[in-house]
Amino acid sequence: MSTTRRRTKAPRTAPALHPNRAVDAEVRRAWGRLSAEIRACRRCPLGDLRTHAVVYRGGLAPRVVFVGEAPGAEEDRTGVPFVGRSGRELDRAVATLGLSDEDFGVLNTLKCRPPGNRFDPSAARTCRPYLDRQLELLHPEVVVTLGARALAAIDPTALPMLSAAGRPRAHGGITLFPLIHPAAALRSRRLRERWERDVRVLDQWLAERLA
Ligand code: URA
Repeated sequence: MSTTRRRTKAPRTAPALHPNRAVDAEVRRAWGRLSAEIRACRRCPLGDLRTHAVVYRGGLAPRVVFVGEAPGAEEDRTGVPFVGRSGRELDRAVATLGLSDEDFGVLNTLKCRPPGNRFDPSAARTCRPYLDRQLELLHPEVVVTLGARALAAIDPTALPMLSAAGRPRAHGGITLFPLIHPAAALRSRRLRERWERDVRVLDQWLAERLA
């Protein structure tokens, strides 16, 4: 399969089966407060270097939340996660999953762009409470980590990336579904094949949950 050629599916929505479909007004308010807090954050040095803190894009009652690593230049400029090349790769994969715009969300482990796009583990520790609070409010059926750093941020004891990818499991009250980072799919044919294979496994997993 090529995610670039595969036909986009009709949205796979199942309002009756979605426990969170109606977003509670209190959740909406809490989300607004949390987003404002992240945008004003200066808890680590990255806060002084950013153009925009990058909070989230997606619905407030998503079935699937994708967790990336850190904003890049395009994300820092726009304040929106995954809008560059790897974002386009991610969006192609999401289209093959048939999720509506409300059914998924995208965020990052780090909310501010690190210099030179070098992931900053110390900043990730400082940022971690934001990630936890975002996931708690969004309460998705599955958290899909993108790349080794996002996986390690949520589960430091996880298997190495290529052993963990494509294998859903329970972790700390959430279902975790690790994928390699979409940027990896742009780097080599072997990793593209792995990315596409694991996206198909996710597709199947979501289909079984709705069956
Ligand atoms: N853009 C993001 O927002 N996150 C990543 O991990 C990569 C690119």
